[in-house]
Amino acid sequence: MSSDATAGAGADDALSETARQAAKRRTFAIISHPDAGKTTLTEKFLLYGGALSGGAGSVKAKGDRRGTASDWTELERQRGISVTSAVLQFGYRGCVLNLLDTPGHGDFSEDTYRVLSAVDAAVMVLDGAKGIEAQTRKLFEVCRNREIPIVTFINKWDRPARDPLELLDEIEDQLVLDPVPVTWPVGDGDRFSGVIDRRSNDFVRFERTAGGATAAAFEVVSAEQAAAVAGGDWHEAREAVELLDGAGAELDGKRFEAGELSPVFFGSALTNFGVQQLLEAIIAMAPSPSARADAHGDQRAVDSGFSAVVFKVQSNTDPAHRDSIAFLRVCSGRFERGMTVTCERTRKTLATKYAHTVLGRDRSTAEDAWPGDVIGLVNASALRVGDALHAAGEPVRWPAVPAFAPSSFRLARCRDTSKAKQFRSGVRQLDSEGVVQVLRRPEGGESSPILAAVGPLQFEVAEHRLRHEFGAPVELAPAPWTAARRTDEASADALRAMSGVTVTARDDGDLLALFESPYWLARLESDHPDLTLDRLIGEG
Ligand code: G4P
Repeated sequence: MSSDATAGAGADDALSETARQAAKRRTFAIISHPDAGKTTLTEKFLLYGGALSGGAGSVKAKGDRRGTASDWTELERQRGISVTSAVLQFGYRGCVLNLLDTPGHGDFSEDTYRVLSAVDAAVMVLDGAKGIEAQTRKLFEVCRNREIPIVTFINKWDRPARDPLELLDEIEDQLVLDPVPVTWPVGDGDRFSGVIDRRSNDFVRFERTAGGATAAAFEVVSAEQAAAVAGGDWHEAREAVELLDGAGAELDGKRFEAGELSPVFFGSALTNFGVQQLLEAIIAMAPSPSARADAHGDQRAVDSGFSAVVFKVQSNTDPAHRDSIAFLRVCSGRFERGMTVTCERTRKTLATKYAHTVLGRDRSTAEDAWPGDVIGLVNASALRVGDALHAAGEPVRWPAVPAFAPSSFRLARCRDTSKAKQFRSGVRQLDSEGVVQVLRRPEGGESSPILAAVGPLQFEVAEHRLRHEFGAPVELAPAPWTAARRTDEASADALRAMSGVTVTARDDGDLLALFESPYWLARLESDHPDLTLDRLIGEG
């Protein structure tokens, strides 16, 4: 065999290893209305995956919930909200699961959208007593925009819950998503004893564990024995399942992957009921990392050379580590710590000596990573959300990350003129992280930018960070605008001459026209169809 042929065989081996590693991975996020149980479910995933050191004993007690692994900045702790996106990696049955944390509040939909650009599937958690809630709907719409396959987990079934058929109707009517139960609850509240697995018709009977601190044991009881064990609840559940079978509620993998159909699981994260079934479904059903379309629409295969997308840039995540982290999802190839990668936008190379995998506040050095994995590059402050990184000679550019339609606006001004420099650099940093959108008018310049957001909580985060991280006390004054549209240079001059319209520019060069009244905007659109007034995504 010639030396050339040997080298070729080596390269083949490396390629198939990448594909093999990608096939083992599931990268997903959880979306839910606050309080539906996302944190609890996350903890239980980690418990089942053995990622919490000390196993069961380290699952946080209720009173210490603010300190859970994915809940890490001071503001989050004060407000009890999850602002930042952490990534948790854990193993389960030979697979590697990457769970990306999304903010629970719809005000952070834009952040959620970016995180969802890095996942292959999402779990939607509903409270069984409440069903679809306001933030569920908002976050679901973000998933729909990204055509992400969704697995539904109806939680808190250990408490009195609503009629499960009614909950399915609600999902179908309100989300226009076809729910297909894979499991069906037997009893609810104190009598919740297990689920019927519709694939086998077996009764999966759970055993309670003290405080849900260890994995819930379960036994699989045949349909014949189940009636004796669960009595009336079993018969009731069987009838519902027969109804579903009759209605043809069947799983269809293609429709699931297209985001049209959602497999539904019932359970209780608190008592661990159904958590294992859900995890197994994620492994069996959620797609593993696959080829990704680049900016030209060409598919980049997972076993091409290394490439990654930046989906989050975050500074000063923890007082113990005063630095900024760019989170990347590996899209293709193998990442090895220390390799030199190129940022496609700036054409600059970056050393990756300080690459980390992050588990909430704990960091460990990432030696290598495969498609679907997330790595944090420390002190990569030149990177922006949407940036493509690639190995030398393997360039790629990803489609632009679309900006969300802002609906709240504030005029920002530094209260202390001696801190003007800190204010400017703070605003630039928040802009590059996408904490808020920063819009500028010729007359406002850097000293009086307009901050634009999907929801007002984003302003609180901006104000808090400008004050505490950059030492710039800031005044955020109410602004008159209520809607924004993307425009272009050709239309901008005409718009500038009109009253009730303000043309602003973003750092990335996009021009946004702001309107004080939606009626005025509607009238302009009908009177001047020649003007470019493009809708932004997420507009209600
Ligand atoms: P979130 O991240 O979606 O906001 O929800 P989180 O997990 O923090 O859960 C919110 C509350 O709901 C918590 O109670 C949690 O223990 C409870 N919970 C979560 N899953 C279940 C479940 O399956 N069954 C029951 N019964 N409760 C569940 P908490 O922090 O003590 O607050 P609260 O009980 O005073 O509201």
